[in-house]
Amino acid sequence: MRVIIEKNYEFMSKRAAEVIAEQIREKPDSVLGLATGFTPLGTYKELIGMYKKEGLDFSRVTTFNLDEYYPIPSTHPQSYHYYMQKEFFKHININPDHTYIIDGLVKDVKAFCRWYEEEIKKVGGIDLQLLGIGRDGHIGFNEPGSSLGSRTRIKILDAATIKDNARFFGKKEDVPKYAITMGVGTIMDAKYCLLLASGSDKSKVLTKAIEGPITAQVTASILQMHKDLLVIADEKASRDLKNKEYYQHIEKLTEELKTLTIEE
Ligand code: F6R
Repeated sequence: MRVIIEKNYEFMSKRAAEVIAEQIREKPDSVLGLATGFTPLGTYKELIGMYKKEGLDFSRVTTFNLDEYYPIPSTHPQSYHYYMQKEFFKHININPDHTYIIDGLVKDVKAFCRWYEEEIKKVGGIDLQLLGIGRDGHIGFNEPGSSLGSRTRIKILDAATIKDNARFFGKKEDVPKYAITMGVGTIMDAKYCLLLASGSDKSKVLTKAIEGPITAQVTASILQMHKDLLVIADEKASRDLKNKEYYQHIEKLTEELKTLTIEE
């Protein structure tokens, strides 16, 4: 696990976009796992800028989104389909046939979830999974108590998540009570995970996730077991981290070490 602390949301977003751009430059047909919500908005904006200014090429990239509310039509302004088009896809040269987002109206949910997992396998798995963290410690919509080995499936949302998301839907009653989400196990299969956290309201949960015990009560905590995890947090979100100075020390020495060793 590597932890980078940036001074604010803008710097966190720039750094995250650079990591994703590097992945695409190295492997133009990369498979990206994508998240929605507030946290990755700045990262998408930066990537759009890189496409427009530097010609960062998305034409061979494939994407799989983490989750979608259920039931919700893709035309609903709060659906994650709508979000992805509006905030990212329509601004870049990605092939729409290569963008997989969970169908929020599918009837045969089990068959759909099996198909989603199969499609991920068919393209060789996810190279880089972008993640935000929920206030209850969720990744995707894997709420507290979700199996740490779970695969894509339908979940009943936690009362706290419904309350949290009411800000987007206007009132609590309009927030869907269910979501289809990649499982914790699906996320853990990604070759590289990039977890972003911004703002003081994430500081306690981020500390639990990366420095606390691994528990299904904070599903993000399983990321401690991931073989290649990068956490990028801003100052506010890193406020409660106990090992903050150590992470900063490592960052400094990592750069120095690069001048001494040969990287693959
Ligand atoms: C969204 C997702 C969620 C969010 C999390 C944080 O696709 O999977 O786990 O990443 O709820 O949301 P924000 O970024 O809005 O605080």
